[in-house]
This record gives sequence, structure tokens and C-alpha cells, in this order.
Amino acid sequence: MDAQSLLAAILILVSTATNTQAKTILFYPPPPTSYIAYHANVAGALASLGHEVWLCVPHAQLKKNLVTDKIVNILSYGEDLGDIERQLYQTTRILDKFWERQPTQGIHALYPVSQVLLKIVNVLLADKMFLDKVRNLKPDLIVLESVPFNMNMVVLPYMLDIPFAFIGTNHEAIMSKVPFSPAVTPYSIDFLSDRMTFFQKVYLTLCYLVSINFDLYHDSSLVSKFAPHKPHKSIYDIAANAEIFIAEVDHILDYPRTMLPNTKLIGGSSASPAKPLVGEFQKFVDEATTGIIVMSFGGAVVNLPPDISNKIVSAFKQLDLRVVWKINMTSPDPKQIMTSLWIPQNDLLGHQKAKLFVSHCGKNGQYEALYHGVPILCLPIYGDQGYNSERVRVKQLGLYTDIREASADELVALMKEIIYGGKYAENMRKASELYRELYKVPKHEAAYWLDHVIKYGGEYMRSPGQQMPWYQLLVLDVIAFLFLVIVVIVLAFYVLIRICYRLYKGSPQKIKSKRN
Ligand SMILES: *[C@@H]1O[C@H](CO)[C@@H](O)[C@H](O)[C@H]1NC(C)=O
Repeated sequence: MDAQSLLAAILILVSTATNTQAKTILFYPPPPTSYIAYHANVAGALASLGHEVWLCVPHAQLKKNLVTDKIVNILSYGEDLGDIERQLYQTTRILDKFWERQPTQGIHALYPVSQVLLKIVNVLLADKMFLDKVRNLKPDLIVLESVPFNMNMVVLPYMLDIPFAFIGTNHEAIMSKVPFSPAVTPYSIDFLSDRMTFFQKVYLTLCYLVSINFDLYHDSSLVSKFAPHKPHKSIYDIAANAEIFIAEVDHILDYPRTMLPNTKLIGGSSASPAKPLVGEFQKFVDEATTGIIVMSFGGAVVNLPPDISNKIVSAFKQLDLRVVWKINMTSPDPKQIMTSLWIPQNDLLGHQKAKLFVSHCGKNGQYEALYHGVPILCLPIYGDQGYNSERVRVKQLGLYTDIREASADELVALMKEIIYGGKYAENMRKASELYRELYKVPKHEAAYWLDHVIKYGGEYMRSPGQQMPWYQLLVLDVIAFLFLVIVVIVLAFYVLIRICYRLYKGSPQKIKSKRN
């Protein structure tokens, strides 16, 4: 243990001992790697405030050491569930579908994922060992991921009577019951932005109507199944009662959106000040004279079809820059291209030599690039990546292309345009400055708000609208009533006029004038 970490450990001990408000918090991220990784960042920041923090990790993910902060305790679960992340990819075939040029974006693409996770929730909520572990911890707060296909997990705090909070990749307007307009509130699906054509708005409105009216990604029957002792509520109604909704978006990279005071935007929590590089990474980057490119397809996509990786290699070879590439492949040219199954991505992007980030555009990496001001070439694959790529294009922080269709020469042209064109690097630099000004260090902001609701509760920020059905929240009932009143008045006038007319027609004057 070096002096610095010893000091940190002492400080934590002291703060724990003196913090009479120390509470126990349990995080439950969904099983895939990227969720665990960013929940772990926030969990670490919260633990450093003196709380006892636990994070649920599926048994098969333990070996990946995703929780690097030693002050975060791990609650492992699902020894019998196998490798859930692999099952997700196998059942949904989302990667194969992408390479086979089938659609992988859009609201329907999430559905198979939600079905796999629904099975997991059914097993987990019936697992006595897991439930006993949770009960014994006596958590004061459970932190859940808000992505729609994880929402079933609200049954856990509901059945155990524990307050809960959400943290998530998106600002979930429907889940947090925020009055919003589909015209400027894109779902993080497809390639939508807040500047939509008429028919995009029609499509999006239909998506919202379906999401509001049907349990697409969740199953409210879980509530009566696992919490029979509690009043029956829908998953949405339970979810809207969260103490706070923390969303890993912002108004700089993402778009301005309407929200309530119990929604807090923090930006991406995986981005933080860079640590100096060490070992082979330090050596490789130190020897780069003209700058480096950082390339990654994220936590789960490290194997690429050979034609794709060959194309990317031949593009890199036409550039005068070194490349650090997260991929499961031996480097074709170790002098220029360093390949590795793991890379210190945040630290590499934070290095002053970083000129470009080539990425699938998952949320975590994108916010790291924004934080460090590195422009992006987006190569989206599935999920929210198309949406994330579109916002990079709209805000001119980089460009995107379809990696299946682009040729090596086209890739070179795009990379050169971003690196040497000037505009993108400059926009990114400005956005980064503004972002740091507003969002500081995102994981600390998240920890601050969680600590805040642990101390004060979230009730005072809650709007009664969050427990209303949508027709009441959008005053459709009032509009219908007013419409009815108008109809009644118009009808009454009509009847009145008819009666008057008849009276007039039948009046003696009229009869007299007819005789004339
Ligand atoms: C890397 O590739 C090898 C050979 O293709 C394969 O056996 C191995 O499972 C891969 N590793 C990962 C982490 O995907």
C-alpha cells in the first residue's frame, strides 16, 4: 500500500467513524459489463462519503474485476444463472444481426433483451439466499438502473419496504412521469434528434403511446406474485415513487429536456480526471510523436469479423498516428498499432496526445471523450448507439458512418476530416469546457444527490402528478369536460334558436303578413 492510498484509507476510516449518518446502500445494476462498470464508479464515490456501499454483481462477472474501488462491497448473486451477458448476446443475436445487416436499432430491438432479463428477475426475486443477503444488510436505500428493461427490479425494494433511487443512461420521461412533448423529446433509439421531421414525430408519438399504455419491457404481474402483502400497483406506478431520478445525460452533448426537480442530470459518471498512464501504455504513448487515436467497441465487443478488422487496419496504416485499440487480436504492426483486451480508456482520452476517439458510441465512452475534449468517429452497432452517434453529428463534435458499408479510404477521409479539419476538435474543446464547468466530476454529483436523499428524502421534490394517470396529468379529462360543456352550450343555443324560430313562424304577425 503506498502512502497515498494509506492516507485515503485513513480518511475514509475517520469519516466513517465520525459520520453518525453513515447508511447502507445497495446498488443493483443490470448484469451487462458496462452497467456494472458505471454503477461501480458512483458506488465508489458514495462510499467515499462514509457510507457502507454494496453492489450486486452476477457470479459469472466476478472474475472481470469490474469493481475496482476496494471500499465498495460486492454482493454476488446467481451462481445458477450462468453467464447472463453471454446469454443476452446469444438469445438476441444482436451482434450477428448487425453483421448480417438486419435492423438492430429501434424500440423493438430492446424487446428480446427485456425478455431475458425478465426471466432473471423471476429467478432472483424467488431466490431465498439472495433475498436473505439483502434483508441482512438492512439497506437504507436501493439504487436501481432506470433503463426500461431493468425496471422490473422495483419489485425488490417494494416487497422489502426499502426506499429506492434510480440512476440511468437516459432521462426516462415516462417512468419519472414528466409532462413532455414528443416533438422535442427524442427517445434514445434510432437516429433521432430534437430536430425531427413530421413523420419522425408521428413515429415517436406512436412509440410513446405504446410505451405508456402497454407493459412492453416489464411485467406488472410480478408485483402481486412477489409482493402479495402490499397493495397492487403497476411497475410504472411503483417506479414513479423513487426518491430521485439521476440521469447520465446533460444539455450539452444531449438535448435540453423538460424535467421535474427530482430528476438530476449528471452527465456520464465514467468520465473523471485522467490518471497518468503506466507500463506498456505509457511507453507506447510517450513514443508517439504526432498523437494517438483511441479505438474501442466497448466492453462486450472485442471480436470483429476479419474483413472489418482488416479494413480498419488498412485505414489506420494510411495515417501518421499511433493507435491504441481495444480488440481481441494480435497487432499487425506493433510499432504503430497497439492492441489489447483492456485499455485505460479514460486515461488515454485524457492524455494530451489524444487526437481522435473511434468508438461504437456507447454512453460511457462518449462522455469520457466529451470530458476530455476528444472528437469522435462514431461506428454505432446497436441499442442507443445510433442515437448517440446522431447527437455527435448534430452538435458537430464528430462524424459517424456505418462500419459495414464504409471502405478503408472512406474511413481515412472521415478520420482526417475530424483530426485536421479543425471544426470538430474546436467544437469538442468548447463543449468540454462548458461540460466541466456545469457538471464538475459526474460521479461525485451522483453521489452528492444520493447522499442528499438519504439524509432528507425525496418527498419534497415529488410532484403529485407523478402518481396521476397520464390522462389526468395531461388534463385530457379536463379538456374532455370543457369540450362537453361547449357541446352542451352549443346544443342549448341551437335548440333555443329553433324554438324561437318556430314561435316566430307561428306568431300572429307572421300569419298576418302571409295573408297579405
Ligand atoms: C479471443 O479470441 C480467441 C481466438 O479467436 C478466443 O478463443 C477467445 O475466446 C477470445 N477472447 C475473448 C475475450 O473474446
